[in-house]
Amino acid sequence: MTPRLSPPSRDLTKSNAQFQRAVQRLPLGVSSSFRYWGDDRTVYVARGKGGRTWDIDGNAYVDYRLGYGPAILGYADDRVDAAARKGMEVGGVFALSTERELIVADRIAKMVPAAELVRFSNSGTEAVMAALRLARAHTGREEYLLVEGGYHGLFDAAMWMADMEGWTPGSNGDPEMVPYGKGIPQTVKKLAHLVPMNDLQRLEDTFKQHGDRMAAMLIEPIQGNCCGISARRDYVQLARDLCDRYGVLLIIDEVKTGFRVGKGGIQGLLGIRPDITTFAKAVANGYPIALVAGREDVMRSFRFGGASHGGTYTAHSVSLAAAEECLRILDETPALVTLASYGEALKSGISGILNARGIAHSFSGHASMFGIFFAEEAPDNYRDWKVSDYSFYDRMAYYLHDLGVIVEPDSREPWFMCEAHGTEASCLTDTLKAVELAVDLTLQDQADGTLDAAE
Ligand SMILES: Cc1ncc(COP(=O)(O)O)c(C=O)c1O
Repeated sequence: MTPRLSPPSRDLTKSNAQFQRAVQRLPLGVSSSFRYWGDDRTVYVARGKGGRTWDIDGNAYVDYRLGYGPAILGYADDRVDAAARKGMEVGGVFALSTERELIVADRIAKMVPAAELVRFSNSGTEAVMAALRLARAHTGREEYLLVEGGYHGLFDAAMWMADMEGWTPGSNGDPEMVPYGKGIPQTVKKLAHLVPMNDLQRLEDTFKQHGDRMAAMLIEPIQGNCCGISARRDYVQLARDLCDRYGVLLIIDEVKTGFRVGKGGIQGLLGIRPDITTFAKAVANGYPIALVAGREDVMRSFRFGGASHGGTYTAHSVSLAAAEECLRILDETPALVTLASYGEALKSGISGILNARGIAHSFSGHASMFGIFFAEEAPDNYRDWKVSDYSFYDRMAYYLHDLGVIVEPDSREPWFMCEAHGTEASCLTDTLKAVELAVDLTLQDQADGTLDAAE
């Protein structure tokens, strides 16, 4: 008989005490609701370096959330931080322009040919919001199309999703389109349309029905908030063709994939040219900066009498200097190859562990940001996720935290790789050791019949 495994324990005394203090002043004790992991599991970070994070209790983690992707090179990268310090000496923001804006925009246009013109924003949300406004200004239309499982930030127009919790797999009907939460006006809903990913017929039908009134189609060809579910090339090509036919602008949201899955983003890998692209996350290794970029005639609608765009902090000298250095590294060194190779090695190590235990699984997305599924085949769209064994993932993730590996507790968030994972000693071996034990503990819970219990 195999001996029973004891669940790992982690000392979170200081984090728990911090939570009790913080919750008096900060809603849920945090600054983003997704950082709240329960009253006794919410982690407060002391620092990050490379591919690792340390919490205030001194627990070390190999980190695959990387702040939801920005730390493409690793936390506190010496090269980018040195550049940012120089950027600080410039003086911040002036409500005037600096020369470095053009230097960074030139680099972006070189790496992403569709980025003919570039505008800077501060966050992914701001960039997508500006992109949609630009599309509306350019086309004179108001409606727009979203893809089920996509995420485009926290602004009202983008906060409509397929209600997968309330949907029954195999039913003939579509999941209902619901807001992400309260506070989103119902009046916005009538402008949004939602289609399932990779369903060519549905895409064509939706354009037939609404195409003449739509300003834009927004798509993340690798869904960075939905398991890395990926659009097939023929689907994105059809989207491109339909947009052309109906005068709709194609917005590829590369907030997560940009400067991560390849120098030219997912659009480069697919060979499909959008009208507008949004970037954020990896642009400056975590310094807050984002971009709207695209076709010259469209981008020139950012003008007086056209689409408004601006913001006190746009093109801040610190973020801009960090972006210049980060993009230089991504463009001129093999950093992206290093991190993708690490991702491949990690996937293969995880597969070895799962295969040895006869556990069906698959991976989605790209080696630099992949989802893990406990199903034979990776899902083709969000509806397929509902039939995968996500309770196995959820429990495994719970144990991984205790074992020193940070992944998102929700199976819909992919694992992110950084250059430092690939160059630092022992990230891979530490992770695989933890995965092996987490899988065995989860199997034990499954055998005990406790897997579906809430954490
Ligand atoms: C594809 C995509 N678009 C937009 C956003 C919003 O970006 P931010 O959180 O910087 O506002 C995100 C954030 O995760 C994202 O993944």
